Amino acid sequence: MSLNRVFSFLSLLLFTACSAEEAAQVSEPAPVLYIERGRELAQGLAACGFCHGQTADAQSPLSGGRIQHDAYGEVAAPNITPHSSGIATIKTMELMQIFRAGIAPDERRLSRAVHKGFEWLSDNDLLAIIAFLKFQPPVANEVEKREVGFIERNTAGFLESTFEVTGFVPEIEKSYPVEYGKYLLDHVARCGSCHNTPATLITDEAYLSGGALIKIESGEKIAPNITTSNDAGIGSWSEDDIVHYLQSGETPEGRVSDAKFCPVDFYRNASPEDLVSIAKYLKTVAPN
Ligand code: HEC
Ligand code: HEC
Repeated sequence: MSLNRVFSFLSLLLFTACSAEEAAQVSEPAPVLYIERGRELAQGLAACGFCHGQTADAQSPLSGGRIQHDAYGEVAAPNITPHSSGIATIKTMELMQIFRAGIAPDERRLSRAVHKGFEWLSDNDLLAIIAFLKFQPPVANEVEKREVGFIERNTAGFLESTFEVTGFVPEIEKSYPVEYGKYLLDHVARCGSCHNTPATLITDEAYLSGGALIKIESGEKIAPNITTSNDAGIGSWSEDDIVHYLQSGETPEGRVSDAKFCPVDFYRNASPEDLVSIAKYLKTVAPN
């Protein structure tokens, strides 16, 4: 047993003991495997810490505070550790509602853009992420919440979809790597949130075709085309090249991509099997 596992196991006992009196509210168990899968997703492909981390590193506590950009301007990522200044009082069903419908327990409408794609996380993966969130050490950090008013929602936010995913969302079987890779790319890693070409008044959004301006604290960069286009995209890359890039940020030509922009420091924590599925799927994405 690695030290990490021993720690997980001990903390799980502690977690179970502390929450025994709340057993009536906490319906689902949080077995170690669930928490481990949640950790793998949160610190891997779902890259929660890229926005919610104290710093944008995979291991950084998810205590929030850094500024993100969306259709309404600027918003600080909330503290999502189980502290009273974070998500301690938010129940599992309410957390699911944040992802499925973009609505906070106090009825605030949350930015859709920042979580776009997560609404279709499978029930199992979402519950695993939530189990991990509740299991992290609590960190105190008050972050001011943003109110998006009715007028803003219907002007700047007009293009944001307001649908809600209801019912059970099943898992995609890993034995179908291309479909499973598509699920991971579109709904866990959400690569398109940066790599899609933004829609304009006369053109639709173009899938993974690049061109969006990505802004972070330290600067801005254009996201490249990652379709199989030979000249504009990564058509010449092999599956192994793609997996190697996601684990290291290094392209086949030996260029090292900036991990402050493309979250490869998170992606390298994903299971190699998941990264291979993403690569297999990317090899099927035709240029637009
Ligand atoms: C691209 C940046 C980004 C990523 C990645 C991201 N979030 Fe968020 N999240 C935000 C922002 C910004 C808000 C606040 C939105 C608002 O107030 O409109 C938010 C809100 C939340 C909330 C609501 C908290 C509250 O108290 O209102 C939760 C819970 C949450 N995120 C969890 C997660 C988890 C878990 C992940 C990873 C699976 C994740 N987020 C990934 C930016 C992000
Ligand atoms: C937060 C925005 C963002 C997300 C999310 C993101 N990327 Fe990137 N990606 C970028 C930017 C910006 C660059 C260019 C970085 C540079 O040039 O230093 C890039 C570079 C790349 C490259 C190198 C392409 C080339 O021709 O050099 C590949 C491949 C890539 N990303 C694949 C992915 C995949 C696959 C995902 C999802 C698993 C993903 N990216 C998620 C922003 C993002």
